[in-house]
Amino acid sequence: MRPRESVCMRPFGGSVGGMALRPPSAALLSDLAAALGPRGFSSDPNDMKPWLTDWRGRYQGAAAALLSPATAEEVRTIVARCASERVGLVPQGGNTSMVGGATPEADGRSLLLSTRRLNRIRSLSQDENALVAEAGVILTQVHEAAEQAGRRFPLSLGAKGSATVGGLVSTNAGGTQVLRFGPMRSLVLGIEAVLPDGSLYSGLSALRKDNRGYDLKQLLIGGEGTLGIVTAASLKLVPAPGSRAVAWVGIASPADALRLLRWLEGRLGESVEAFELVPREVLVSVLHHIPGVRAPLAELHAWNVLIELVSPGSGSEADALISEALAEALDSGLALDAMLAASEAQAQGLWRIRESIAEAERLEGPSVKHDISVPVSRLPEFMDKARAAIERGFPGTRIVAFGHLGDGNLHYNVLPPEDGDAAAWISVNGGKMTALVHDLVTSEGGSISAEHGIGQHKIGELMRTADPALLAAQAAIKKALDPAGIMNPHKLFT
Ligand code: FAD
Ligand code: MLT
Ligand code: ZN
Repeated sequence: MRPRESVCMRPFGGSVGGMALRPPSAALLSDLAAALGPRGFSSDPNDMKPWLTDWRGRYQGAAAALLSPATAEEVRTIVARCASERVGLVPQGGNTSMVGGATPEADGRSLLLSTRRLNRIRSLSQDENALVAEAGVILTQVHEAAEQAGRRFPLSLGAKGSATVGGLVSTNAGGTQVLRFGPMRSLVLGIEAVLPDGSLYSGLSALRKDNRGYDLKQLLIGGEGTLGIVTAASLKLVPAPGSRAVAWVGIASPADALRLLRWLEGRLGESVEAFELVPREVLVSVLHHIPGVRAPLAELHAWNVLIELVSPGSGSEADALISEALAEALDSGLALDAMLAASEAQAQGLWRIRESIAEAERLEGPSVKHDISVPVSRLPEFMDKARAAIERGFPGTRIVAFGHLGDGNLHYNVLPPEDGDAAAWISVNGGKMTALVHDLVTSEGGSISAEHGIGQHKIGELMRTADPALLAAQAAIKKALDPAGIMNPHKLFT
């Protein structure tokens, strides 16, 4: 096996074969300004400012200009010129990345490419059960277009009002319906993208089967903008549900949550679409920070799950199915208490609690964030082990782990001790805490990035923990497709 050190010294990071990326020349900037027009080009610091910081405010970048092309052809022009002049390009959609993936470096040598003007839904076919959306289309617009056609795009997340098709594709986003429908990887049928040499890959067909060798689409999905700029995607739709039921259930432990999930699946099959774990501390934080949110149950249970069940039958069929099952779970003691939403407004209220967790956490102040997955069956044991190790090594910290229990994916976040400067504590202890959590995850056969990607935040941990053969293959692919290293420099690779 190749020694890990040799793999870590990858030929990227803004340079290939010793030739560094360059800042854009005055000629390049004026050509791009002319090609894109005033709506598509700005070097005004005030226009750029909102897009140079990530959602959590952890990274501050700079850019030579903000480019907002309106067509794939304009994207080609930009990429071709940047490739020939070795200028870095940072694609950005809704800027909701949790790993600083869309924030350019602070040296200001790159160009920021926003997809906001690539905002058309090009087509929707009920016969194909698919729609084609440009990269800058926002997730809620995809949901609305599908709904108007009596269909559904079954991926959702808290940032749905900002996250774009291009960002969702490029991060292989997960969210709250992965349990049944999988992440973006299973919902993207085709992609149109501009590759790092400026060529256009027109792969938008909605084929369900296509075995013509390597799947370029799957490389671009989760590629974090390092292999090209996605300009449009063909997305899989599913039938609109006849009815849905949303319930909030108090439980005693994560192990009971898992038992409840398997028990419900045994009774109700694939109709269980979402199964999200919310501990008491997280609920308390949402109640504290988010206006208009109410506790669903009389008691604040140590653990809770938000369950969504969908049925093809209309009316109250989904409610009937889940209430019968939950009544049995309450009788057997597996569930401690439960509230079934009695109206669409109540259902949305329960989802608002879940979807506001990230915002409440941001308002709570800095934390050491982890986005981990382990095999689902190992999750309760992992949580016990991690808690014991953290309490031993970092007394006074508070674990706030929540999320997609049905997928084995938790946002395993740790808050610094309350008495003291949180940011200072994290700068001293954050790295050690992360190494501890990630080592445990790795020893359980898990992943240090379940759904948010690597961005600039996790490069070191990826290199420290990943299989050297995987790292070498990823570097070879990057080198083959982007030899000048212009695409999203210093993301995913050093
Ligand atoms: P950006 O943040 O703009 O970019 C993300 C990455 O994709 C960057 O590397 C960027 O360079 C690249 N990129 C963007 N557009 C393109 C393009 N057209 N071509 C090539 N590369 C591109 N994520 C989950 O997976 N599950 C969740 O449940 C979830 N919940 C969230 C809740 C909140 C409140 C927030 C703020 C974030 C959440 N996220 C979640 C993270 C984030 O929303 C996703 O990663 C989302 O996919 C990012 O979309 P975006 O358009 O904002 O992309
Ligand atoms: C979520 O599931 O709410 C998100 O992925 C956001 C987060 O990790 O905070
Ligand atoms: Zn999540």
